[in-house]
Amino acid sequence: MQILDSYIPVLGVLKRKETDFLNLIRSRKDVLLFEITPENRNIMSGVIFDELLKITSFESGNHHLDAESYEETARKVFAPVYSLIAEQIKEKTNITAGLCLDVGAGTGHLGIALAKITELNVCLLDCSREMLAIAGKNIVAAGLQDRVHTLWGNVYNLPQQDGTVDLVISRGSLYFWADKKCALKEIFRVLSPGGMAYVGGGFGSPELKRKIDAQMQARDGCWEKNMNKRVRATENLDYKQLLADLDGLNLEIINDEANMWLLMRKNINYQAGTACAE
Ligand SMILES: C[S@@+](CC[C@H](N)C(=O)[O-])C[C@H]1O[C@@H](n2cnc3c(N)ncnc32)[C@H](O)[C@@H]1O
Repeated sequence: MQILDSYIPVLGVLKRKETDFLNLIRSRKDVLLFEITPENRNIMSGVIFDELLKITSFESGNHHLDAESYEETARKVFAPVYSLIAEQIKEKTNITAGLCLDVGAGTGHLGIALAKITELNVCLLDCSREMLAIAGKNIVAAGLQDRVHTLWGNVYNLPQQDGTVDLVISRGSLYFWADKKCALKEIFRVLSPGGMAYVGGGFGSPELKRKIDAQMQARDGCWEKNMNKRVRATENLDYKQLLADLDGLNLEIINDEANMWLLMRKNINYQAGTACAE
């Protein structure tokens, strides 16, 4: 117990059986339990790794975003980015009806902006309940309760059935995914044949990026350093190589001064079960 009471993170395995000692560990508020089953064991490494990153990222505190302050920044600084990127997604994918899944939706601004200019039903998915609570209020404020809703979940284990999502969007979340290959394969799994995913991050235009960088640097002196660190950690990734074994995937990479997007399209003739399983 001494080590559990310390600040040192502990990763351990608990047997299923009930003993006073094991129950005491299970009941602690600071213990996070993951159930590993034959069905989920391939994806759980990513989920657990991400949780460990959140706990151990003492240096920047970057992996754990505080929902209230994120929302404040989204409203005061990022606001113009969402409508611009929503327009870009609409133009690039041409998907304006059906089901859209916003993965790592945070407080919901991108999904909401896209719902406003399309007829899409939008599911705002995030692993943070705090972010989703704020997203729920933003949906109501936009009067979009009939077409936009929130869903708690994790990119490594999306709740959607295979081939059921017309459009996946995701801004700024990829940088937090420890196992990008597993996450992107999961996104591909839920795409319908002919469906598309627009996943990555960015600020829409170089002008907007410059303006936001300056505003953010003034608010948080570590902004550029942390931003660069996160982007650097992914910039050398060869996504084509990473996803080379996904049959039926057409991948375009948009990488400019202000954005990095993976534009994934699932072949219209894709037959479920022919690819993607490891
Ligand atoms: C930088 S925020 C971006 C929020 C929103 N997309 C936006 O553009 O304002 C990243 C979001 O990804 C979420 N996230 C990180 N890892 C995730 C995972 N494994 N599954 C689902 N969401 C995740 C975080 O909780 C956070 O809300």
